Amino acid sequence: MTELTGSDVLAEHSEIIRAALKRESAKLFAPQESKTERGLRRFSVRETAEHLKINYNSMRHYLKSVDGIPEGILESGNRRTFSAEEINAIQETLYKAGKIPLNLYPRKAEGDQTSIIACYNLKGGVAKSSTTSNCATFLAMRGFRVLLVDIDPQASLSDIFDVRPDIEGFPSIYDVLKYDDPIQMSEAISGTYVPNIDIVAGSLNMTEFEFETSATYMSGQHQSTPWHRKISNALRTVEDHYDVIMFDTPPHMSFAVIAAVFASNAMLIPVSAGMLDIVGLEKFLNLGSNTLSVIEEHEEGKKYNFVRYLLTRYNKNDPSQLQIGSFLRSELGSNLLRTDFLHSTALTDAGIGMQTLLEVDPSKLNRRTYERIYENLRDIADELEEEIMKTWGREPVKGGA
Ligand SMILES: Nc1ncnc2c1ncn2[C@@H]1O[C@H](COP(=O)(O)OP(=O)(O)OP(=O)(O)O)[C@@H](O)[C@H]1O
Ligand SMILES: [Mg+2]
Repeated sequence: MTELTGSDVLAEHSEIIRAALKRESAKLFAPQESKTERGLRRFSVRETAEHLKINYNSMRHYLKSVDGIPEGILESGNRRTFSAEEINAIQETLYKAGKIPLNLYPRKAEGDQTSIIACYNLKGGVAKSSTTSNCATFLAMRGFRVLLVDIDPQASLSDIFDVRPDIEGFPSIYDVLKYDDPIQMSEAISGTYVPNIDIVAGSLNMTEFEFETSATYMSGQHQSTPWHRKISNALRTVEDHYDVIMFDTPPHMSFAVIAAVFASNAMLIPVSAGMLDIVGLEKFLNLGSNTLSVIEEHEEGKKYNFVRYLLTRYNKNDPSQLQIGSFLRSELGSNLLRTDFLHSTALTDAGIGMQTLLEVDPSKLNRRTYERIYENLRDIADELEEEIMKTWGREPVKGGA
């Protein structure tokens, strides 16, 4: 019998899984089931009013009286529902008709900076991807134009948004960052099933970027763009089209992570309430501080508009988590978002199907479970919105707990 080396075995298994995914994806994501076809669920008038931060009675009045406003679909029980696209169109119509003031209109104006937020913690499994995907979806429903950049070779965020370079051959962030024949950022952007969300997908070959960067660095080869500027330079060509750009990062330090933090002007740090998480956070912040000081040496006056912590997967019924949560709140003060990202079985279930909450049909879940996590994610996104609006010099509308 021929003996296989470890690398042969792993390569063989990788090939088996890749081929199976390719084969099965036709079944798993059959045309009528593909997210791109199915899109998000439809939303009631009350939910539409809530997404657009318009009083429910005013919304009902506008729907009857404002010219050109989408009518949605009248469903059984005389319930009117709207798609995400229709909600965006309602917002545009009402803004143009002067019914939505600027501080409730989530589009940057001429000269406003795009909020570039790195969702960042070196600890694995603290809900970085879940935070990024769900916050992005709620912000997009509010009307923000969002670009997601997945620099994690695991590419979970890209999986959630149904863009799979490793299986379907789309370009990924690696194709933009690679040293030989890179492509333009605009060529790597894919639309998603959420109308206001585009994504630059992650892929396994982001690990190549790490090798290439260290090889280039060691050989002292002259590069027109230093590695730490590669992401920020690439974004510069597209950022005008977006109000918010969010990075989902891997749970390890890498050149790509530093380049993403360099390209960002804000940070969101998810933390779970475990003792090991807090010890890890202390180490991570120390390393983060050293990394930032290296960045600051390269760019004088590099500033972040906000750095906020978010307590994630938080279970208030667990006394030890409650204790750690209170400790973090008293130590970090207003740097910790007022709203904690609660542990929810709705998301564990959604996670299995790689879905964001707004894709899930609420009737499939216990009503109270759905409402609790829906309101929770809405409040977190509202707090992010406050921070973004502040950077645009607009009086924010308060959200959150
Ligand atoms: N609030 C929540 N309630 C319940 N389950 C959650 C919650 N947030 C995340 N999860 C689950 O926890 C797991 C890890 O979450 P996620 O992938 O978002 O973490 P991550 O920090 O991105 O991980 P990694 O470090 O591997 O990138 C997933 O299975 C996800 O579905
Ligand atoms: Mg992740």
